[in-house]
Amino acid sequence: MCGIVGYVGHREACEFLLDGLRRLEYRGYDSAGVAITDQAGDVSICKTAGRIERLASALASSPLQGSIGIGHTRWATHGPPTEGNAHPHIGGERVVTICHNGVIENFQELKARLETEGYVFQSATDTEVIAHLITDCLEKESSESKVSDSVAPYASLVTAVKAALSQLRGTYGLVVMFRDHPGVIIAARLGSPLVLGIGDDEHFVASDASPLAGYTDKIVYLSDHQVAVITADSVRVTHRDHGEVRHSVENLQVDATDVDLAGYPHYMLKEIFEQPESIKNAMRGRLCEDDATAMFGGLNLTPQQLGSVNRIILTACGTSWHAALLGEYLIEEFARIPVEVEYASELRYRNPPVDPGTLVFAISQSGETADTLGAIREMKRKGHRTLAICNTVGSSIAQEADGGIYLHAGPEIGVASTKAYTSQCMVLSLLALYFGRMRHLSFDAGMRIINEFHALPSKVRAALQTDEESKRIAAKYSGANNFLYLGRQYNFPTALEGALKLKEISYIHAEGYPAAEMKHGPIALVDEATPSVFIVPQGFVYEKVLANIEEVKARGGPVIAIVEHGDTRVAALADDVISVPSVAEFVQPIVSAIPLQLLSYHIALMRGCDIDKPRNLAKSVTVE
Ligand code: AGP
Ligand code: GLU
Repeated sequence: MCGIVGYVGHREACEFLLDGLRRLEYRGYDSAGVAITDQAGDVSICKTAGRIERLASALASSPLQGSIGIGHTRWATHGPPTEGNAHPHIGGERVVTICHNGVIENFQELKARLETEGYVFQSATDTEVIAHLITDCLEKESSESKVSDSVAPYASLVTAVKAALSQLRGTYGLVVMFRDHPGVIIAARLGSPLVLGIGDDEHFVASDASPLAGYTDKIVYLSDHQVAVITADSVRVTHRDHGEVRHSVENLQVDATDVDLAGYPHYMLKEIFEQPESIKNAMRGRLCEDDATAMFGGLNLTPQQLGSVNRIILTACGTSWHAALLGEYLIEEFARIPVEVEYASELRYRNPPVDPGTLVFAISQSGETADTLGAIREMKRKGHRTLAICNTVGSSIAQEADGGIYLHAGPEIGVASTKAYTSQCMVLSLLALYFGRMRHLSFDAGMRIINEFHALPSKVRAALQTDEESKRIAAKYSGANNFLYLGRQYNFPTALEGALKLKEISYIHAEGYPAAEMKHGPIALVDEATPSVFIVPQGFVYEKVLANIEEVKARGGPVIAIVEHGDTRVAALADDVISVPSVAEFVQPIVSAIPLQLLSYHIALMRGCDIDKPRNLAKSVTVE
């Protein structure tokens, strides 16, 4: 977790660093800091506990000037979120200054060794060992090195950094500044993302591309084990264990307007309202009327390989796991291929039987979730073909998978996933159609599905009109301490997702269940103070869910129901009803997700919670 930025060039570094940290704040926000090297080569550090705005105020009263610097916004793994533990950290007598994203698993043993060598630790972080270790390697290097920096610029720095990195066990995205070489930053990654921005006589480093929007549109994605040497006028990338590698410069697809609030009070609300567009983008260019199917550019599979798929594993975490669960229902229904949905954190340490016909999909908004990355690495090791469904272009999961499908939802900044979820559901629906048309679905059935897809963005737009109603209902129930979310079949995942949204941003305990499973235990929780949110669209389980509502009402529980327009039967039973447009059952979860997102948004707002940055969470969980 955490966000890293770096700058070397001709402008005031602090401006880019602060701007970039604000855009990365979703990655972690318990403390922040910057280090700037001034013209004389002196490094000054400013760190604060808490949000970036505290750092900004501190910098406003004591500005740091200089055109080279690094910055960090932290999500603590080792040591509490204090100012002392905030990054940047220094090594030796301010020999190096570093910011780090990741976890160093062997930090205790390295720390013990470094302490015996006389290094004094100032923080409780694992990161500080990297700073002292690089210092130690630099000192050893300068006493042994025969290579002069004038022959290969910064060769001794690179050698020392690589020597330090090769002693680390764990993950890192790292930026390093050097007291004695004030014009250079070294960046390195293993398991935590880093991108470089290429400007005119200036270069940028960041944990993802969003800070670069508006500064440059040329970016380089660093890969694992790469070490980059960055000055104002050059970028060289080398492999940690080998020599120089060629880096390709790609075009940045993020616009500066994608990462601002555009007048909305919160990113979450902005992203909820972007869904008609993001859903359209997920299917843009992917519907083929001629063959009544979907098509994908990047699966990188031959027709023979696709034809021989006899089992699919969908693996993900959190909200993306809920989308996977919907994918299971859809793919099995349309394509009759057995699907297993696995928590990535479990799959990575399991040993499921290997079968050459198994295709593994990793689903991840960020493409950086450590558990999901670990799971696809393990599946690849076993010889499975792995594909990614990701939102973030160039992310680690997207790079490591054999192929994949991008969501094209645009940056999702609110920590609670909204538009990425519905886009994941959309892409999985397209996949179900695609595999279905290769197997059992007729042309006619394929066309009917496509027509439903075409109509979906406008139905989602209409579902956004439930905002006022959601707000009214939120006011009624915002004091509750427990909620149940209940739905069946395609809407069982919707219930899970509704409950997670509420938990994440309002800190209310909420549980999602298949509606009929409720009577096997959770019904004991039902009382006058525990609202049950039922997702009850028309469809083949409609009557069954109605019976489940009766069961809750019979025990005095308040019922909030998400129904289709024109439904009067549920209205007669439920305390509160939110109605959404009618659509085919298999896309109903996308439409029904909208009022659930709005309900949790308004409840959280009324409870005074920090909606875009809920406590204890971070947008992408890049540690195990
Ligand atoms: C979503 O609201 C959550 N913040 C979280 O569950 C998230 O979906 C999960 O961490 C997976 O993230 P990913 O999609 O980026 O892999
Ligand atoms: N492990 C480091 C720390 O606790 C870095 C955490 C992060 O990635 O923010 O400070």
